Amino acid sequence: MKKLFCFFVWAISTSLYAQKFEGLALTPPMGWNSWNKFACNVNEQLIRETADAMVSSGMKSAGYRYIIIDDCWHGKRDSLGFIQPDPERFPSGMKALADYIHTRGLKFGIYSDAGWFTCGGRPGSRGHEYQDALKYAEWGVDYLKYDWCNTESLNAEGAYWTMRDALYTAGRPIVFSLCEWGNNKPWEWGDKIGHLWRTTGDITSCFDCIVDHGTWFSWGVLQILDKQEGLRIYAGPDHWNDPDMMEVGNGMAVNEDRAHFSMWCMLAAPLIAGNDLSNMSGETMQILTNKEAIDVNQDTLGIQGFKYSAQEGLEIWFKPLSGGAWALCFLNRDTVDKKIEFNWKEHLVSDTFSNRQLDFKARTYAVRDLWVKKDSGTTRKPFRAKVPTHDVKLLKLSPNNK
Ligand code: GLA
Repeated sequence: MKKLFCFFVWAISTSLYAQKFEGLALTPPMGWNSWNKFACNVNEQLIRETADAMVSSGMKSAGYRYIIIDDCWHGKRDSLGFIQPDPERFPSGMKALADYIHTRGLKFGIYSDAGWFTCGGRPGSRGHEYQDALKYAEWGVDYLKYDWCNTESLNAEGAYWTMRDALYTAGRPIVFSLCEWGNNKPWEWGDKIGHLWRTTGDITSCFDCIVDHGTWFSWGVLQILDKQEGLRIYAGPDHWNDPDMMEVGNGMAVNEDRAHFSMWCMLAAPLIAGNDLSNMSGETMQILTNKEAIDVNQDTLGIQGFKYSAQEGLEIWFKPLSGGAWALCFLNRDTVDKKIEFNWKEHLVSDTFSNRQLDFKARTYAVRDLWVKKDSGTTRKPFRAKVPTHDVKLLKLSPNNK
């Protein structure tokens, strides 16, 4: 009887307490965010045009859903402390914009910051968390990216916890994206709080470089990739490592964009495009909408890929997929082209994290090239290919039952 009573007390109290909205990101979120291309130059016309372009370009059909306004949409707080959008940039208001986005079958995301001010100097949510969450719910927001500028004396886990509770209390299911740059190891505590957490500082549109901004750095694709080492054990359905939004279409060479996109697929990273969707080249569009690569990213097992080997600038990555399949990516980091000859039978790939093994002596796999979009034999014969500089060969291996 006493046990039963305790159970009821426990059940009632846990249902009353706030928590994360479960199940909103069972596969890595896909969408678009304004920051990488437009920085502070956001307004409602841009957001509407982007929503239209997401549909007409085929990105919506490829799985992209969230249209996220990053920093600088904010106006002043009203006399009661409720946040309002900038009246010149968003004259129709956020509810009307959310409706516009929802009517197109898309979802609406917004940005705030745990500190006094956002990184762009707009009002932050500190001290207004519950008010802001109420506004977001009223407007129809589906996704919140929550930044970490101007947070002096705040404890990261506590601050994100507060916003999580505020969102839950406001009652509208909202994906919660922690943007804390990896400073306080959010992978160790983020899964109870949000659906994804940034693992690094900001990305920049460069394949292999570091940009020094004086008080902070931004990082190229390879530098960000290297910072993911050791983090895969923390990711899975509804709680993802976020190596930052994509720079595909923002000025890198096509092969670099392809390599960047492929690696984000291998990492089970959120696929948040950061380019101008209304003015995309055919090549950018083909990269962003490659359904077979996206399927690697969106695989329902949600297992982040891992680096199997690295030799003379050539890395080999594997990612376990559902149905006994695997993705395999040869990444050429070098500035010269590489010839590969991969003799499957010489390799035994063991993943202790997912408890999966690829034993090419015991089993044959059909090989498919996910960029050429063609079948490429089986693992009975060695795989030969050329991987140009800063490019990839992205393959899917499916158990061959023939
Ligand atoms: C930080 C974030 C970026 C972006 C800007 C906005 O640098 O890491 O992704 O949101 O702030 O000011």
